[in-house]
Amino acid sequence: MKKRIPVIAGNWKMFKTRDDALAFIYQVNTKVPAIEEVETILFVSPIYLRTLIKRQEDNLRIGAQNMHFAEEGAFTGEVSANMLTNIGTTHVLIGHSERRQYFAETDETVNQKLLSAHAHKLTPTICVGESLETREAGKTNEFVRNQIKKAFKGISKENAIKTIVAYEPIWAIGTGKTATPQDANDTIKSIRQTLQELYGSSVSEKIRILYGGSVNPKNISELLNESDIDGALVGGASLNPQSYLELVTAAVK
Ligand code: 13P
Repeated sequence: MKKRIPVIAGNWKMFKTRDDALAFIYQVNTKVPAIEEVETILFVSPIYLRTLIKRQEDNLRIGAQNMHFAEEGAFTGEVSANMLTNIGTTHVLIGHSERRQYFAETDETVNQKLLSAHAHKLTPTICVGESLETREAGKTNEFVRNQIKKAFKGISKENAIKTIVAYEPIWAIGTGKTATPQDANDTIKSIRQTLQELYGSSVSEKIRILYGGSVNPKNISELLNESDIDGALVGGASLNPQSYLELVTAAVK
């Protein structure tokens, strides 16, 4: 029995047409387990958010893949937290490594986004994770601990508990290379330890920390068997409804 309710989140990245997205949601909507057993989230393109939110049943959450930290302003092409909540969005992904790598996100902007998400009562999932170079240099824990400390700067205990963390080693994303369950668990334990130092164990023991990076229906169970892995953030294997349902079902067992 898990200490915390698991979370299975799909990150669709820049995939799917509107028709594909609708077909997917109609297939999984009524089949995902009750939210008390596992929380299921789909992070989708912003242009499908409203369409999918309108069709979202009680047990499925639809989230945005990014947001800007400013309330409003001259930021062409960006979406604010207020705009997201205005159309009924409840969840948002922050600081994915692809955003850090290709869109110049920094630990500082991640922190500002986390603060803004909480100010707007959005549930954030914040991503951290090291490059292959950092891992090979034996600096994974130091690197990830630093990302966590910077991301949570100024975040209250109450909001820290509501935050979901996703540990995604960059070298495991979309490569078919998964961290071993033990390695993933060790880094996640180190993240929880960092959160304990910041907030105390009454908070750190409640925060859900997910693993991401080449998770699929075949390897998810052994990852979830680890003591500190509370779920998964899944890219490729979340695009197919059948595979997504298998991932979600694995978390209920
Ligand atoms: P893959 O599951 O395709 O490796 O992607 C992981 C990821 O980046 C989820 O956010």
